[in-house]
Amino acid sequence: MDLAALEQRAREELDGCTDEAGLRAWYSKYFGRQGEVQQALGRLKDVPPAERPVYGKEVNRIKETLTRDYEAKLAHVKELALTRSLAHDALDVTLPGRPVPRGRLHVATRVMREIRAIFADMGFQVYRSREVEDDLTNFELLNMPPHHPARDMWDTFHTTTPGVILRTHTSPGQIHVMRELCPEPIRVILPGMCYRYEAITQRSEIQFEQVEGLCVGQSVTMADLKGTIVAFARRLFGQGRQVRFRSSYFPFTEPSIEVDIDWPQEDPNADRLTKGTGWLEIMGAGMVHPVVLRNGGYDPDRFSGFAFGMGPQRITMLKYAIDDIRQFWGNDLQFLEQF
Ligand code: DAH
Repeated sequence: MDLAALEQRAREELDGCTDEAGLRAWYSKYFGRQGEVQQALGRLKDVPPAERPVYGKEVNRIKETLTRDYEAKLAHVKELALTRSLAHDALDVTLPGRPVPRGRLHVATRVMREIRAIFADMGFQVYRSREVEDDLTNFELLNMPPHHPARDMWDTFHTTTPGVILRTHTSPGQIHVMRELCPEPIRVILPGMCYRYEAITQRSEIQFEQVEGLCVGQSVTMADLKGTIVAFARRLFGQGRQVRFRSSYFPFTEPSIEVDIDWPQEDPNADRLTKGTGWLEIMGAGMVHPVVLRNGGYDPDRFSGFAFGMGPQRITMLKYAIDDIRQFWGNDLQFLEQF
């Protein structure tokens, strides 16, 4: 076995290797299980005893120097590859990042929160009331006996359980809150979803939100109602706003009013919105009817109260010049992303 020839061949091939894959192939050729240097080591036992020490020493020297040179070269090649990749595939940290799409609150939620905040500042708490009602609470206890013509104002979704309906307005919440808190004074708003069995058009949806208000105490007057509404309207629509009260009719209030605000003439939509009158209706309201107070547990000779009800979708449409109420629950991102 010519160890010198083996060493020379191995070294030449090692010098010829230029990358990691080549080096590893070289290593397994000489040092793998069937590797040539390994085999040379294995042949030690076949060498005549007298030559063994020299042979053994030589083959070990070859193994050690080759291994050392291989490892040095491998490290060098890896280093080179790393330097090359750093220079080549450099990461440009100054490039702008990919935008992360940001969610936001639905415009209906934002306006609802604004309304809540305004009333919170005036001492109104939020009272949550159910969306499924019985006929008694949605109508009768609000002073609308069966067959009362005023029921025609609210087209109703009935369920398969007789007498159980989807509330057509938030007013039945008045009964719940009065019965829970009587005889304490009350100052609450009752926000929530209402349902009406109506044709869906640009101006009416089968589901929509309302914010009911109720204030009950020992000396609550119409002046309190007016002051509260004017303060609310000016905070929501702007301090310069004029507020107008018109007499109206609701079964659960007496007297009943409707509330208008003036609409800025500068707004190009003003004429269309106000039908040329300059005024725009924002809510119904009134002094709580004695029958309703009694149904809530309050003695109308000692207690009085005011109530109001408004539709935040309508108000949002005014605020942002939205001309189709169906946009609110249509899930159209192009619409929603404007707000
Ligand atoms: N419930 C009425 C409706 O849905 C709105 C309303 C009017 C509520 C006058 C009130 C009120 O509390 O006093 O049309």
